Amino acid sequence: MLAADRVIDMGPGPGERGGEMVFDGTPADLRNADTLTGAYLGARKQIGMGLKRLVSDNTPRMILEGATQHNLKNVSIELPLQRLVCITGVSGSGKSTLIQDVLAPALMRHFGKATEAPGAHDRLLGAEQLSDVVFVDQSPIGKTARSNPASYVGAWDAVREIFATHPTSKQRSYTASKFSFNSGDGRCPSCGGSGFEHVEMQFLSDVYLRCPDCDGKRYWPEILEIKIERGGRALSAFDVLELTVSEAAKLFANDRDVIRAIQPIIDVGLEYVKLGQPVPTLSGGESQRLKLAGFLAEAARDAAKSKQRLATKGTLFLFDEPTTGLHFEDISKLMRALRKLLDVGHSLGGD
Ligand SMILES: Nc1ncnc2c1ncn2[C@@H]1O[C@H](COP(=O)(O)OP(=O)(O)OP(=O)(O)O)[C@@H](O)[C@H]1O
Ligand SMILES: [Mg+2]
Ligand SMILES: [Zn+2]
Repeated sequence: MLAADRVIDMGPGPGERGGEMVFDGTPADLRNADTLTGAYLGARKQIGMGLKRLVSDNTPRMILEGATQHNLKNVSIELPLQRLVCITGVSGSGKSTLIQDVLAPALMRHFGKATEAPGAHDRLLGAEQLSDVVFVDQSPIGKTARSNPASYVGAWDAVREIFATHPTSKQRSYTASKFSFNSGDGRCPSCGGSGFEHVEMQFLSDVYLRCPDCDGKRYWPEILEIKIERGGRALSAFDVLELTVSEAAKLFANDRDVIRAIQPIIDVGLEYVKLGQPVPTLSGGESQRLKLAGFLAEAARDAAKSKQRLATKGTLFLFDEPTTGLHFEDISKLMRALRKLLDVGHSLGGD
């Protein structure tokens, strides 16, 4: 940015809070501009590092010995657990080979998960100190257009329960499952509850066309007649799915189960996505952060159960360039989310 002859800054926030040009000028002037970019460049805002966890001789660790895959020259690493560990180096130095091609598959195999054969190495020690390994990459979450942020973190289950308590639902014997877009007979049979017709294109990316039978609304008309009152608005199941996560957080402020489920999406900085946005349309970075939100939601449930620390051994989360394409402000949010995982005893590593 500082090397640019001219900078155009978009914002002021993401999603519906964005879409405007908030600065247009030289890098020197941007430092003083009243925008998020200006605040970080002018050092008026910083990415919080949080508390540094010391690595000492008795910190539990995992050891990978003798990695020789691709360009690796017989590399042995000690990975401290319950810590944030960063693998860095110039492009092509072997970071992804070490983490994605050797360490992750070796650990997956240890935990009996389906994986590619691990890249060449001598041995892996200390995996028994972990309960699981999860590789949080930027690959798409899934191809089903029915899956969306609300269902991914389990918020839709809580919302369906609210619809089922509506007097008309009771009168018509609609249970929570009537309001599912994943299964059951409340959803539109033509599109199976996605609201889209999915057209696979041979060489181009897939096309999603609005379902002509439900007009993209996912449910039978009589299901959409049930409207719950929140924040002075009457909302059908479709209307709720059209809300952004931050709108939903305001309207459902008093619904604890809904808030608990969507809070992780806010924590990873995705509050601007719609609850019902099909996951195949999320960007790589957004997919990675939604996956992280899914784990945070799980960690929050575990923490609530065992009060503070994990009852079980922690999970090792491996990330693939988690800050790629993110603004300082997004990295700041991501760091807060990662710290939540560390606080309950998980381990983090990434390149
Ligand atoms: N499948 C492969 N077959 C042969 N060589 C490979 C293969 N994959 C990677 N390499 C080579 O191994 C070296 C290390 O690659 P790697 O992807 O681990 O780098 P990196 O440090 O992750 O780089 P970047 O920052 O660009 O992601 C590179 O020279 C690369 O060309
Ligand atoms: Mg790489
Ligand atoms: Zn339909």
